[in-house]
Amino acid sequence: MVAAVRSLLCAAAVVLLGLAGAGKVLVVPGEYSHWSNMQSLVNELLRRNHSVRVLVSTSSPSIQPEDHHQYHFIQFDVPAKAHEIHALSEEMIHLWMHEAARSSRLSMALKIADLASRIQAVQLTCCEAMLRNQQLLDSLRAEKFDVLLFDPMMPCSDLLAGLLHLPFVISLRLSLGYNLERLCGQIPAPPSYVPISPVQLTDRMSFGERLYNMLLLIFHTGSFQAFTIWKLNAYYSEILGKPTTLCDTLGKADIWLIRTYWDFEYPRPLLPNFKFVGGLHCKPAKPLPKEMEEFVQSSGDDGIVVFSLGSMVKNLTKDRANTIASALGQIPQKVLWRYSGDKPDTLSPNTKLYDWIPQNDLLGHPKTRAFITHGGTNGLYEAIYHGVPMVGIPLFADQPDNLLHMKTKGAAVTVDFNKMKTEDLKEALTEVINNPSYKESMMRLSRIHHDQPMKPLDQAVYWIEFVMRNKGAKHLRVEAHNLTWYQYHCLDVIAFLLSIVALVIFIFVKTCKWLFRKCCRRSSAKSKKE
Ligand SMILES: *[C@@H]1O[C@H](CO)[C@@H](O)[C@H](O)[C@H]1NC(C)=O
Ligand SMILES: *[C@@H]1O[C@H](CO)[C@@H](O)[C@H](O)[C@H]1NC(C)=O
Ligand SMILES: *[C@@H]1O[C@H](CO)[C@@H](O)[C@H](O)[C@H]1NC(C)=O
Repeated sequence: MVAAVRSLLCAAAVVLLGLAGAGKVLVVPGEYSHWSNMQSLVNELLRRNHSVRVLVSTSSPSIQPEDHHQYHFIQFDVPAKAHEIHALSEEMIHLWMHEAARSSRLSMALKIADLASRIQAVQLTCCEAMLRNQQLLDSLRAEKFDVLLFDPMMPCSDLLAGLLHLPFVISLRLSLGYNLERLCGQIPAPPSYVPISPVQLTDRMSFGERLYNMLLLIFHTGSFQAFTIWKLNAYYSEILGKPTTLCDTLGKADIWLIRTYWDFEYPRPLLPNFKFVGGLHCKPAKPLPKEMEEFVQSSGDDGIVVFSLGSMVKNLTKDRANTIASALGQIPQKVLWRYSGDKPDTLSPNTKLYDWIPQNDLLGHPKTRAFITHGGTNGLYEAIYHGVPMVGIPLFADQPDNLLHMKTKGAAVTVDFNKMKTEDLKEALTEVINNPSYKESMMRLSRIHHDQPMKPLDQAVYWIEFVMRNKGAKHLRVEAHNLTWYQYHCLDVIAFLLSIVALVIFIFVKTCKWLFRKCCRRSSAKSKKE
């Protein structure tokens, strides 16, 4: 009887806890791989009985609500111009993949800057469509959300949080030059051992490299400040109806969920509201489709190699595709290549092309020997999770930086996409597959990844729930947000101390002089007398 009552009470408590804990989450996702990462969070929030709404514009290049019936979407209309975003993303890929080899660094930089500013103009029309749509804002307010979760790839979400008066959680891998994290989030980044990405530096830097890193820090900080003052701060003030800046607004973030962890990052100083949840989307491998499993089994003891350049790169030039295909043909392993371009002429029987591969399941397969990757964060973490060494072919964005981390940790070999010859790729593959040090390094990273007090996904969701339960996490915000730059660096205190030292020295020197003069006068008077 007592036991029955007790179990009834327990059940009631569980239900009550469940009800009390369930909240409403508004999600503004990024595009492409950012969205697939965010989906893991959304799925887990739904599994825990929270109600989730995903806000997307009708111009989203990679999120089509009709493909995802399990989610509840809120769509808002955008002007025709916003639909250019798709073409612009393709143009960016084309620029990196086809023109990087032919153009000089300067002309490349100019082209990227031009394209980035056009992308920004289009994004701004999206912002306008979202933030000036009174009907949308009213309906969002009526939903009474508890928290906003967003990816800064979708700009102005912080403004949306401001308009709706919601606490917010940011999901971010990395911003250019760590600008958002450093300047808005106040995370310390001493240039002596925190390399300012994206650049080919590690945490161990010579004098020259530290000089370079410092200059880069100054350049990024300066250009970011100039850009926000020139372009964004006025807009932010106008939308929120009070004088504010991008960093004031974004800096109000309750939690920053960073999509990396210490298996990947160089050790560096942290703030209490930065949580490192890299690999939150990783899960154990599921069985492969039958036909694929047969192909994998046919590899025998040699095993297989998994190859993907990510979801954004669909086609390669004939030359690159042939170079890659003939390198793949020269290794004893079987290769599963995600590629939807034309079939390369040099394709060997050991290589199969697929429009899509179950990448996580393949990387978790016991026969997998290596992963050829462009170095996107999602794929990289799946490789760490399953302990598969990598051959990196970095293309753009954070990919070179990602793969440099893996290379310095001894888990990857990288080759240059535009310059590599067949032998280069073949040698890299042979090295990674036959030299056990790569597998060992990767297994070490994998052990670090799995040996955490809480799984990354649970940790990320825990903090989102924390923000919902406590209406924010302001107790984790450092006071640095309220300081000016000279207060932050204690320049005012240093100036004060220096002036005291100067004063003491001044008084000391004056006194000495005075005493000296007095002595001299006395002794000269004495000598006159004599
Ligand atoms: C979610 O709600 C369902 C039905 O009310 C319940 O059976 C389930 O245990 C809940 N899940 C969690 C994680 O609370
Ligand atoms: C891939 O690019 C080649 C030219 O480089 C072109 O001939 C071919 O049609 C493209 N294939 C696809 C599927 O887009
Ligand atoms: C900063 O100043 C504001 C206003 O004076 C105050 O409410 C807040 O608690 C201070 N601290 C932080 C970390 O924002």
